[in-house]
Amino acid sequence: MDVQDRIDEKVASATLKEMGDLRIDDVLAFIDRGIESMPSYMDLYRRWERQQWAVSDLDFGPDRESWEAMTEEGKKYAIWIQRLFFNGEERVTATLAPFIWAAPTPEIEIFLTTQMVDEARHAVFFDRWWREVPGTDAKDMRTLLDEVRPTVNEGYNELFYDRLPGLSQRLASDPTDIESLVAGVTMYHIVIEATLALTGQRFALETMREQDESHFGFYKGFTAVARDESRHVNFGIKFLQEAVREDPGRFGPIVQRTLVECLPLISGTLEPPDGDQRYYSEYGRSQEEFYEYAMTSLNKRLAAIGINLAA
Ligand SMILES: [Fe+2]
Ligand SMILES: [Fe+2]
Repeated sequence: MDVQDRIDEKVASATLKEMGDLRIDDVLAFIDRGIESMPSYMDLYRRWERQQWAVSDLDFGPDRESWEAMTEEGKKYAIWIQRLFFNGEERVTATLAPFIWAAPTPEIEIFLTTQMVDEARHAVFFDRWWREVPGTDAKDMRTLLDEVRPTVNEGYNELFYDRLPGLSQRLASDPTDIESLVAGVTMYHIVIEATLALTGQRFALETMREQDESHFGFYKGFTAVARDESRHVNFGIKFLQEAVREDPGRFGPIVQRTLVECLPLISGTLEPPDGDQRYYSEYGRSQEEFYEYAMTSLNKRLAAIGINLAA
């Protein structure tokens, strides 16, 4: 076993307690490795069986202590990305079922079912963090989601409350519509998960590690979330790669068109409230850095799928 194999094995088998020892870039390396030798849908299913974790096992004690010591301004900057994530996780939970109905094979149907459970767990993770760290009087999850819903990000609103549910509705009306499934996986797995979510997770976790917060409940839980997402992204790449190989003239343009439509929504989502760059600079980051990382990730995934966006 070389060093890389050993790191991969540590990531693959880490328990929730051990998540504090993992680096996000090592977790995300699974996606690049997957591009070199694509796992089967059932390999991804088995990985899911092995990588279970429970929100109820997390301890948010250190998180709460640190939160209480923060200034009001610091809290405002810290909470923005959580708002995007919490509502985003609920949206992807709510819209995935029609993708399962449209699955062309039982293996795909089974993998996507595991993903739906993951997304529900991610929403529960944010709900618990919210109740135990910033605190809230919201009596249930709907009330809390509505309270914290990011309304100022136009790109975000359009993507999560219009485009994604629209595609999901199309699949619900006609589960045999394979072209909508290809467009849906492009938007869901490639734009939302591989480009937006993993970029946000990467910078949030790197920043926490730099600030010695890897023992926080949030760090451990969010690393587990990112490991779940790495399976979802591998699924998306595999599914689209197979579709494009099977019929490049039919499916290639659908992937391309969906991406071109979503590109302004990606930059729109990364736009901070009121254009206030302190949402990034408070953490020693910049909006350009996020955007560049997002685009580099996107281009790597597209190359694996067999799509050239510039073409
Ligand atoms: Fe998720
Ligand atoms: Fe996901």
